[in-house]
Amino acid sequence: MKLEVTELTKCYGKTRALDALSLAVESSRVLVLIGPSGGGKSTLLRVLGGLDVGDSGQVTINRQPILTDPNALQAYRRKNGFLFQQFNLFPHHTARRNIALPLEKVHGFSPAEAAAMTEQALARFSLLEHADKLPSQLSGGQQQRVGIARAVARPPEILFLDEPTSALDPEMTAEVLELIQELSEAGQDIILSTHEMGFARAVANQVAFVAAGKIEELSPPDELFGSPKSPLCQRFLSRVMRY
Ligand SMILES: Nc1ncnc2c1ncn2[C@@H]1O[C@H](COP(=O)(O)OP(=O)(O)OP(=O)(O)O)[C@@H](O)[C@H]1O
Ligand SMILES: [Mg+2]
Repeated sequence: MKLEVTELTKCYGKTRALDALSLAVESSRVLVLIGPSGGGKSTLLRVLGGLDVGDSGQVTINRQPILTDPNALQAYRRKNGFLFQQFNLFPHHTARRNIALPLEKVHGFSPAEAAAMTEQALARFSLLEHADKLPSQLSGGQQQRVGIARAVARPPEILFLDEPTSALDPEMTAEVLELIQELSEAGQDIILSTHEMGFARAVANQVAFVAAGKIEELSPPDELFGSPKSPLCQRFLSRVMRY
């Protein structure tokens, strides 16, 4: 994907979540956002994915500007896939129905088409044995896998993941991280935020360090983790890598 963000600002009341943020990524499969809590990662993901609009500034993805009128924004959103921090499955529907429903209601596939795509997604992510369970009957890692299966059942242009492993124990985290790695190896463009530095380093083509609503540093992972240039980024890494 190619990404160009120019002077993007987004305020919530008096909080400047994004502060004239600029970012240029020429060509990258997986862009990973890291940085301190409250730095603006989720806000940036939401604006890049078309779930929210900035107050000012421009965003161009794959040479297409993201337009802010509601119809264009909805069409843009539909092209992408999302999975955010908390598991956001419908609690009263089975795993299978959770995947099929957006294919029918958002993408307009017939029930038969949606069912075929759903079976494929369930098989691809080894979820067939869990297909008839409700989210409450699945582990956290399994729920995240269903969430990812849903997000890619119809291949999205870009898959946005906001801390996909934040609620998981280490073993389930590994399971979800492997799945994300597989997707990227299969050619899926992904933008994700994470607090898992080892994973960020392993999966990213580019890592952006986001702090105080700005991109403080953008580098390939070995460079950013090996010899960070920005003092803020150095300080952040020396703190989070200590434990
Ligand atoms: N809906 C909202 N209403 C008010 N303030 C918000 C809202 N969303 C975000 N903020 C504020 O904007 C700033 C950036 O928040 P954001 O969630 O983007 O940070 P983050 O980098 O994702 O943090 P974390 O690592 O904790 O998830 C924070 O100061 C936050 O309190
Ligand atoms: Mg966040």
